[in-house]
Amino acid sequence: MFRNVLCLALGLIVGMQLTELWDYWTLTGEEYESTAIAADTAAPIHTALARASLADWLYHETRVLCLVLTMPAHHKTKAAKVMSTWGARCNKLIFMSSQDDDVLGAVNLNVSESRDNLYAKMRAGFAYAYEHHVEDYDWFLKADDDTYVVMENLRLFLYPFDPEAPVFFGHRFRTSYPHGYMSGGAGYVLSRDALRRLNLFALNNTKFCPLNTNAEDRQIGYCLLNVGVAAGDSRDERGRERFLPLHPRHLMPQIQKGTWLDTYSYFKPNLSDCCSDSAISFHYTKMHEYDRYEFFLYHLRVHGLPEKLSVLPARLTYKQMEEKIDFWNQQISDKTTPLD
Ligand SMILES: *[C@@H]1O[C@H](CO)[C@@H](O)[C@H](O)[C@H]1NC(C)=O
Ligand SMILES: *[C@@H]1O[C@H](CO)[C@@H](O)[C@H](O)[C@H]1NC(C)=O
Ligand SMILES: *[C@@H]1O[C@H](CO)[C@@H](O)[C@H](O)[C@H]1NC(C)=O
Repeated sequence: MFRNVLCLALGLIVGMQLTELWDYWTLTGEEYESTAIAADTAAPIHTALARASLADWLYHETRVLCLVLTMPAHHKTKAAKVMSTWGARCNKLIFMSSQDDDVLGAVNLNVSESRDNLYAKMRAGFAYAYEHHVEDYDWFLKADDDTYVVMENLRLFLYPFDPEAPVFFGHRFRTSYPHGYMSGGAGYVLSRDALRRLNLFALNNTKFCPLNTNAEDRQIGYCLLNVGVAAGDSRDERGRERFLPLHPRHLMPQIQKGTWLDTYSYFKPNLSDCCSDSAISFHYTKMHEYDRYEFFLYHLRVHGLPEKLSVLPARLTYKQMEEKIDFWNQQISDKTTPLD
């Protein structure tokens, strides 16, 4: 009798331990989120292990295809630098060019090189991404070959948002149409649904999406507006921009008052506090600067300071996402005069 009870108790204990072991082995990404990071309370990540793997985990969770606008004359210079630095952190990197290049992964989009053709090239690039990759990635980033992107910050920023919602993010400029457009040089990112809408309903319709020689960014912004894609707000909680269409030397220590950034930005920038500490992009990168960014961002450590902990924001529910989109659609510029 006593032996039977003992066996039962031992059996229960072993069973419970095995269950825990099983749980441990089968820990998935979602559980990583809820156990290690406590997303709903936005708690800091405590262990060095969790912090090191947050970027890795996000790499699989928030998948970004990067479309980089380049040309054959830049294949061995700027494009090669993009590929060996930030571009290597994209889930997939495609250079949009007018010549194939297997080393680079450049695609010949059959559009002849000229400034007037950038918009045509961009249309072909988005069509290519849609045709070959729309289901394989969550977000589709357009950048120039002189944009520098901090991919980890891009993923952390995008993580809360549903890629099946019609939205795009970037540095928002104002223009003659109400919702403005995102700067091409700072890079802008389309959700999967935005890419789908662009291809299904805009690129085949010259009323929504005219063929012309306008600037690529302005024109794509117009096409997206016409198919119901919201211009999202990518500023941080203190109103500082994350996508920056300038070189840091023109942003720090101060943006000059009355310069084009001050005039054209949809939201009035704080001239003396321009840039988010979770900034995503800078523009006008020179050949020697890609590696400098790498050094300052990924190698240099300031020893002896308390470490900054990353926080994984909570993912929005469908309803919260809808409310965000309504809010973004109603956000109006800090400036009232429309531009041409
Ligand atoms: C460009 O044209 C060539 C030759 O017609 C074709 O094989 C290729 O698929 C085209 N590329 C794209 C991206 O459409
Ligand atoms: C564009 O394609 C969509 C989806 O196939 C179709 O519903 C729409 O009518 C097309 N628009 C034009 C102007 O052809
Ligand atoms: C601009 O940034 C500075 C420095 O962070 C801050 O003191 C100031 O209050 C900000 N101004 C506005 C209008 O937010």
